Amino acid sequence: MSALFSPFTLKEVRLRNRIAVSPMCQYSAEEGVANDWHTVHYASLARGGAGLVVVEATAVSPEGRITPYCLGLWNDAQAKALAQVAAGIKKAGAVPGIQIAHAGRKASANRPWEGDDHLPESDPRAWTPISPSAIPFGANLPRVPREMTLEDIARVQRDFVAAARRALEAGFEWLELHFAHGYLAQSFFSVHANQRTDAYGGDAERRGRFLRETLAAVREVWPERLPLTARFGVIEFDGRDEETLAESIELARAFRRLGLDLLDVSIGFSTPAAKIPWAPAFMVPIAARVREATGLPVASSWGIDVPATANEAVARQRLDLVMVARAHLANPHWPYKAALELGEERPSWVLPAPYAHWLERYGRA
Ligand SMILES: Cc1cc2nc3c(=O)[nH]c(=O)nc-3n(C[C@H](O)[C@H](O)[C@H](O)COP(=O)(O)O)c2cc1C
Repeated sequence: MSALFSPFTLKEVRLRNRIAVSPMCQYSAEEGVANDWHTVHYASLARGGAGLVVVEATAVSPEGRITPYCLGLWNDAQAKALAQVAAGIKKAGAVPGIQIAHAGRKASANRPWEGDDHLPESDPRAWTPISPSAIPFGANLPRVPREMTLEDIARVQRDFVAAARRALEAGFEWLELHFAHGYLAQSFFSVHANQRTDAYGGDAERRGRFLRETLAAVREVWPERLPLTARFGVIEFDGRDEETLAESIELARAFRRLGLDLLDVSIGFSTPAAKIPWAPAFMVPIAARVREATGLPVASSWGIDVPATANEAVARQRLDLVMVARAHLANPHWPYKAALELGEERPSWVLPAPYAHWLERYGRA
């Protein structure tokens, strides 16, 4: 058996292999409520064979959505609809995970295919984004956010806790806190977004405070038996990389002490001036450094879509879990393709019996 298809146990949760469907916003909800699109989409991906399916960034409050069409988890109707999504994933043999998020200054935007920019203030669907400081992201997202008060901070943290509770009630068994990609939590940590002079801004210790407190508060309500994970942008590619990485590793060590079970190592995306060295699997060496320095199990994504590359990352203990995003959109049965390419003994059985039986018998095209 290849390393990619070895099971992975974290807390009391066992994944059937090391492949995860990385969270991918569908921008297809109304009032934050999942519908047929989500139920079918996520069940299909789970049927494709991944061990873990992480449902897209799901907002902890209305103003925490990226677009008006993002999923939410701030009321019971949303939790009820997501329970169906979780059940569909689980029935297909994958572990249902969910990413809970607040978009911060990147909120109140158009869908990517409708402009990917801020909604004009005059648009009735628009709202005022909030952020640690009144500094806009810039480029396609120029809207100046409102600087958060201490009361705003406490409220958003309560929203994360309430969303975690609802995720648990909805049947999710793996929780990912969205601390990456220039959204609210990443903005607290980033020098590009945070110029506060109170306890939540200043040196790296202070800039990490919102993230540590949020994690600690969620850990209190998320059961010890289930994985609590975070996606965190450890580097910005803004010319300050070693410094940021050192600060990120320090913060990730604190996350571990607070009970984090795995870190999904990603990019900060806090400044449009970043020069990202795009290349296949380019984040793997960085994730491996974080793994080595923190002792945390790690996952990562970004162009890890060649099965041999994914397998090697696990075999060489650089990643514990491989997050595959766009390749799953192109082929929801990507794990089956990987099983074929890696020479698994009975690759068809990565898929459910109604598919596997025929593919094994009559060909595997
Ligand atoms: C359509 C789409 C939506 C995405 N939505 C999210 C999201 O909700 N949360 C997140 O952390 N990353 C999101 N991402 C980033 C992916 O999870 C992943 O990190 C990225 O696409 C790189 O992996 P890949 O090269 O396998 O596609 C999204 C990516 C795509 C293509």
